[in-house]
Amino acid sequence: MIRLPLVAGNWKMHKTIAEARQLVPELVYGLQDIEGVQKVLCPPFTALLSVKALLEGTDIGLGAQNMFWETEGAYTGEVSPKMVAELCQYVILGHSERRIYFGETDEGVRRKVKAALAVGLSPIVCVGETLEENENGKTEVVVRRQLEEGLRGVELEVDESGGVPLLVAYEPVWAIGTGKAASGEIANRVVEEVIRPTLASLYGERVAQAVRVLYGGSVKAANAAEFFEQPGIDGALVGGASLKAEEFIGIVSAAASSKQRQLT
Ligand code: 13P
Repeated sequence: MIRLPLVAGNWKMHKTIAEARQLVPELVYGLQDIEGVQKVLCPPFTALLSVKALLEGTDIGLGAQNMFWETEGAYTGEVSPKMVAELCQYVILGHSERRIYFGETDEGVRRKVKAALAVGLSPIVCVGETLEENENGKTEVVVRRQLEEGLRGVELEVDESGGVPLLVAYEPVWAIGTGKAASGEIANRVVEEVIRPTLASLYGERVAQAVRVLYGGSVKAANAAEFFEQPGIDGALVGGASLKAEEFIGIVSAAASSKQRQLT
């Protein structure tokens, strides 16, 4: 089973439209010759339309960072699945910053995942333990719960192309924005010993092997290869380093060369 590597840049609450118009052409130029990796940009909602126009004719995909699960209605400040699907192919769901600052729960993530799949979006479902949970040996319990609860009742199948329209991102909270990335080996162990077995228990081995699992947390050009060399890690969800063209391009090329090496 070959899982095409994917590198997504989560811009978080950064970049105005004007700033995005400076960054995106640099990314398009630097990424155009890198093959064998899916590239995705996830700007804030306000910049989606402009970034979409700048990505026209390129192989770079577009994702949102969140959405609501309801189809439409009186939900001031929210954005519907259909609105996101009009512009994007991907949506990040259950990011730890949404769980921590905006009270997002596993149940909310589940509703959003179902709604995203229903409109043809590929959700990137984020899971990961806090520092305290990690120090108390709770990583496995927390990550398994986030997946089991976040995906309960969500139907997943391998499609004709051999893929599954859902990705998981393992983002240990203690590694996000701290400069302290997990080691490739530790992240891989969580993927292979917790994430894929949990997916297998929910959906069977075939689906579990087809789901792409990304690592996120202080990934930069200098440490990216360490993650991509791991057999269980299929790409990265990049925060801070995705705001700098050189860094993000460096990460995508590291994915291209590591994963190609694994195939030869
Ligand atoms: P950093 O790469 O800034 O640590 O953020 C990771 C992240 O949260 C991506 O979603």
